[in-house]
Amino acid sequence: MKILIVGSGGREHALAWRLKQSPRVTQIMAAPGNPGIAELAECVAVAADNIEGLVELARAERPNLVIVGPEVPLVLGLADKLRAIDIPVFGPSARAAMLEGSKGFSKDFMAKYNIPTARYRRFDSEQAAEAKAYLDTFDGPPYVLKADGLAAGKGVVIAESKAEAAAEIDAMLGGKFGAASASVVIEEFMKGEEASFFALCDGETAVALAGAQDHKRVGDGDTGPNTGGMGAYSPAPILDQAMQDRVMDEIVTPTIKGMKKDGRPYSGVLFVGLMIDDKHGPRVVEYNVRFGDPECQVIMTRLKDDPLPQLLACATGGLAGCARLERFSDHAVSVVMAGAGYPGEPKKGGVIGGLAKAGEVPGVTVFHAGTAKKGDDVVANGGRVLNVTATAPTLKDAAARAYEAVDLIDWPDGFCRRDIAWRALDRG
Ligand code: AMP
Ligand code: GLY
Repeated sequence: MKILIVGSGGREHALAWRLKQSPRVTQIMAAPGNPGIAELAECVAVAADNIEGLVELARAERPNLVIVGPEVPLVLGLADKLRAIDIPVFGPSARAAMLEGSKGFSKDFMAKYNIPTARYRRFDSEQAAEAKAYLDTFDGPPYVLKADGLAAGKGVVIAESKAEAAAEIDAMLGGKFGAASASVVIEEFMKGEEASFFALCDGETAVALAGAQDHKRVGDGDTGPNTGGMGAYSPAPILDQAMQDRVMDEIVTPTIKGMKKDGRPYSGVLFVGLMIDDKHGPRVVEYNVRFGDPECQVIMTRLKDDPLPQLLACATGGLAGCARLERFSDHAVSVVMAGAGYPGEPKKGGVIGGLAKAGEVPGVTVFHAGTAKKGDDVVANGGRVLNVTATAPTLKDAAARAYEAVDLIDWPDGFCRRDIAWRALDRG
């Protein structure tokens, strides 16, 4: 079976790495891929947001399954265009991808189907005064403001004062994120512990895959600016079996049923960002219509069962009758190594040494997230550059193995957080 993976990050490297082990997979292609993926797959230089180029590639290569990594091509309708030429695709239609593509859509959807989330209202560019007045309905700061559309992970602002929130309302509605912030959602700040939950869906049925937690702030102790994610671990202790069952019953299943009812059947992976506290149980922070990055890296390395049959069933139906993915390694930790300056402008071009040695640490796989090849050298070419990922029977050992490998990597411009998985480790 021939698989085409769309994307170029650590998430896509982890998917390629896991599928390479499937006895049914004979060939993997990636568009555009990266130097790590190139060791496992044929990389074709078509960008992940070049919808026409990807459709052309698929038309020529006729893969048995296309797996779409990032959200942008899904929101732009890649899955619809591939289905129109009878190519099975793992990932939702544009109409279903609105769960991530429009915060306003996802909030209205949750309200309609009583899915637990933060209290909110939506405002457009004519309603700045009303938006500011709405701030008074909350107990006080912090205030949560969200650009409606995709803003490369930067569209959420947690304002620490009313003045900051008001200024941000003006900035967003004034076009700070272009069309993406022509409308904004203002919502209640939820307290609790965040976790990521992943379910596989075929439009009719959803099955739980796994939980994970990531670290969004750039600095140790969860300090500094937000990033795409500085590390992750799975399983997440807060998502024990009982909590996973609640998330399926109270959030995932009603989401899949509601989407079907609304004529937007959801297929692919549903990534629910959760806030969990004792008082409210699990509530939705946001939906994503793709795997998390770096959550995917810890889930793929933990997974012992071949995911291909389920991924294929998500694309073509019949997930309910598919054997469950049940066998997982105990724990995985992924540490993101980023270029100095990230999440601002990262330092690029530095040569990265020691990758082979790092990959020899037991249980360790080093995924490429933002690298390039310069002659025979691997060089840094992005913000998040490497995902040093390890599995082990305990979380503590998984973290220790990941950091042992990190310390073998010779890249003076790189940095990482030293406390990935601390919350779960502190818990004992
Ligand atoms: P997002 O870009 O939607 O992932 O949001 C970024 C981060 O903002 C989330 O991971 C949360 O930490 C935080 N956040 C978003 N919405 C809320 C909320 N209503 N209450 C508390 N934190 C939130
Ligand atoms: N790690 C969070 C995300 O992929 O959105």
